[in-house]
Amino acid sequence: MALIQEIDYGTPARIAETLVTLEIDGKLVTVPRGTSVMRAAVEAGVQVPKLCATDNMEAFGSCRLCLVEIEGRKGTPASCTTLAEPGMKVRTQSPKIAKLRRGVMELYISDHPLDCLTCAANGDCELQDMAGVVGLREVRYGYEGQNHLKAEKDQSNPYFTFDASKCIVCSRCVRACEEVQGTFALTIQGRGFDSKVASGPTNFLESECVSCGACVQACPTATLMEKTVIDHGLPEHSVVTTCAYCGVGCAFKAEMQGAEVVRMTPYKDGKANHGHSCVKGRFAWGYATHKDRITKPMIRAKITDPWREVSWEEAINYAAGEFKRIQAKYGRDSIGGITSSRCTNEETYLVQKMIRAAFGNNNVDTCARVCHSPTGYGLKSTFGTSAGTQDFDSVDDSDVIMVIGANPTDAHPVFASHMKKRLREGARLIVVDPRRIDLVKSAHVKADYHLSLLPGSNVAVINAIAHVIVTEGLVDEPFVKERCETEAFEQWRKFIAEERNSPEATEAMSGVPAADLRAAALLYATGGNAAIYYGLGVTEHSQGSTMVMGMANLAMATGNLGKRGVGVNPLRGQNNVQGACDMGSFPHEFSGYRHVSDESTRKLFEDAWHVELQNEPGLRISNMLDAACEGTFKGIYIEGEDIVQSDPNTQHVTAGMTAMECVVVQDLFLNETASYAHVFFPGSSFLEKDGTFTNAERRISRVRKAIPPTAGMADWEITMALSAALGYPMPYQHPSEIMDEIARLTPTFAGVSFDKIDELGSIQWPCNAKAPEGTPVMHIGGFVRGKGRFMITEFIPTDERTTGRFPLILTTGRILTQYNVGAQTARTENNVWHAEDVLEIHPFDAENRGIREGDRVALTSRAGQTTLHARISERMQPGVVYTTFHHGFTGANVVTTEFEDWATGCPEYKVTAVQVTLAKKMSDWQEHYLETRKQTTQIESKQILTGAAGD
Ligand code: SF4
Ligand code: SF4
Ligand code: SF4
Ligand code: FES
Repeated sequence: MALIQEIDYGTPARIAETLVTLEIDGKLVTVPRGTSVMRAAVEAGVQVPKLCATDNMEAFGSCRLCLVEIEGRKGTPASCTTLAEPGMKVRTQSPKIAKLRRGVMELYISDHPLDCLTCAANGDCELQDMAGVVGLREVRYGYEGQNHLKAEKDQSNPYFTFDASKCIVCSRCVRACEEVQGTFALTIQGRGFDSKVASGPTNFLESECVSCGACVQACPTATLMEKTVIDHGLPEHSVVTTCAYCGVGCAFKAEMQGAEVVRMTPYKDGKANHGHSCVKGRFAWGYATHKDRITKPMIRAKITDPWREVSWEEAINYAAGEFKRIQAKYGRDSIGGITSSRCTNEETYLVQKMIRAAFGNNNVDTCARVCHSPTGYGLKSTFGTSAGTQDFDSVDDSDVIMVIGANPTDAHPVFASHMKKRLREGARLIVVDPRRIDLVKSAHVKADYHLSLLPGSNVAVINAIAHVIVTEGLVDEPFVKERCETEAFEQWRKFIAEERNSPEATEAMSGVPAADLRAAALLYATGGNAAIYYGLGVTEHSQGSTMVMGMANLAMATGNLGKRGVGVNPLRGQNNVQGACDMGSFPHEFSGYRHVSDESTRKLFEDAWHVELQNEPGLRISNMLDAACEGTFKGIYIEGEDIVQSDPNTQHVTAGMTAMECVVVQDLFLNETASYAHVFFPGSSFLEKDGTFTNAERRISRVRKAIPPTAGMADWEITMALSAALGYPMPYQHPSEIMDEIARLTPTFAGVSFDKIDELGSIQWPCNAKAPEGTPVMHIGGFVRGKGRFMITEFIPTDERTTGRFPLILTTGRILTQYNVGAQTARTENNVWHAEDVLEIHPFDAENRGIREGDRVALTSRAGQTTLHARISERMQPGVVYTTFHHGFTGANVVTTEFEDWATGCPEYKVTAVQVTLAKKMSDWQEHYLETRKQTTQIESKQILTGAAGD
């Protein structure tokens, strides 16, 4: 493996119908109109020296190093700010230019420490490179005069340093923060010699900075540098892979020294991120080598016994023996498994295959059950495909963006930056969310409408928006006539036009002023291309599926489908939750969303797998736990999920887990679920294996092995070994062979292979004979199901109601720096920002209860109680409180209830009636938690006891 070097074209690419041809150093080159001379030169194979330009931001023209001569023009214009014109003749080298460039470089170097040989960036510094390129041999000015060599170093950020003495004030960092990230955390303060980069009032850590790393990436000197590179030295080789955190699916170069990763650098050719990143993917990868990683398989007869390290062979045989024993005693359906949305497509496919073929039942489910299963159901019912309609780049063509129940700046940060760019260009924004998320108002972005609805009233709001559109005559009649089922539409039109669906009639239950709702509806229907982006605030409700169908109805009614800039787009949570669903992780579906009762599909799999398959859907996660409590479900294989922490009503989950006779957990760490396990298989991180992930835009990207599996086996190999021990060998030599099988058996993946992905960079399914290079935008010209189908979306309030005893509504969400149950991020420096989950409470509700900022409060529902610290915040409306679920000790799911989506069983995490009171001590559940963790691992218990449970 060599170190992958990407070309820097100096200025961004342009898309234009008109092309211009010019001559640069005697070479003819043709580029789209609007392209800079600098970029045209690189296209022609000519490198012009540069410092302040880089190709992911607009030209700035400050360093004057890129001067060129243009025939017929006076002077020496900067090539980065000069546009290519037809017939232009450009010279990039001449004695005059050389002298000017040397003069510029001399000034820079005269105020720069001459410590190149010992500098961490030695060999990876554009200033050093340019000094060489322009032939600077001596610096005539000494250091006697004023300089910045003693400028202070800012080390406050846990991941990078800012060494002001090395800054050349090129402003690349400031522009990266503005143009690429959209945070505007940096400024250039002062003028002339005194000008300097400033980050907030004190330092980076205290500033608005969200540690995305864009400025570090942009800096041409060692001023902004990753601490890992300072500590370990520059990388020697790299491999392109895909982030294992969220559903954006950013491409990264894993840059290494020997077998050690020293930096994750966002990959410019990554189609989902275009070279951008967030703090998680860019910096929070240290968990992969964290000392808590379990590296040996372990078994124990009882969950109260200590773990015993054993060989792989013994662990695999023990697990297989137990599963066989349980099936012999309790029947074929007494065991099941859960696939992981963090593992690769190939690994997920293997787990469901093993369950269907080796366990002999369909008791397989996945964490998508508890997040986006309503997306699958709702979009399949209306459009015919269980996935989002657009690619991320489509947002560049959106005129109106409606964000519903999603918080992209925290949960999908790189796409949020992309979206914010479009908003700064003038797209209008509607936010539908109970909480005032950052997008509502942040630097240079302000929502036109924030519909701050009461949790649980989504369907009332979407119906009211549709009501305005229908009753104001704003339906796109030609689209509906041509593209949708007429009868279903007419029924829906009649239903939605009923007065009870009007903004005025629904205002009291949604809390959204009718006037705001009417205005937002008009904007969505008449503002041009309108796109909906949504998250778990839509799906994790008792009417999650209804709401998804409500959004699909709205998009169909306004013709906002089948082209760029529009659509209905789920922002998927985990990195491979789309893939886990695609791969057949649900009990009722094979890969490609084909029902197990379908004879021809089942025959296809039976022939390929040489087994007889069940024709009835198996158990969902919640059914497995119920059956365990009832004594009929006794064994489970859980790959890469922490259901004890992530699933609702923890007490019920743990009761089910405790009742089982063989729980096999395969994970990186001893997570909460492992406390109930009898067998632990140490899993592999994304850096340790080959495979693919599928992101929220249906994009299949390669995961490439950077380092060997810590415990000796990648997850797919462990599943294969277990299956073989159960008597059903699945002998694949490489994950590419698994993908080949998926492609053979799944029509939407028919054209997918590792070779094809390597060739194209990534592929969005469907990829088959009709779409050999994949499908960025779906439903062009017709829906996958033929005609689009309007669905009746009657609003039925949840049974979870506030009462005198539980007068507040709790809703939950995510935060930028932590990820899901914190298994990975809580083992990184990201804890600097979010060391514990807190309860956001409105000042009004806090005052009523005598609660002050930082007080420990008890959060109690009819399901259970936990305690956490209070944060007084007007982001919440009175009557609604909010927390995150990233830390095990907080146990947010101890209080969530068993209510669930009527169609898919997705839990209603977003609405729980609670009471909040001052607390003197931790809850009983938390005491029990600490006790359990103490048994699990002494190290972790110590961390817990000295951390969140301080009082
Ligand atoms: S910190 Fe780096 S990118 Fe920012 S102005 Fe200084 S040299 Fe340029
Ligand atoms: S890390 Fe990102 S957010 Fe922070 S200053 Fe740099 S560009 Fe801005
Ligand atoms: S946006 Fe998501 S995929 Fe991209 S770096 Fe951040 S966590 Fe990873
Ligand atoms: S690179 Fe053109 S002026 Fe700096």
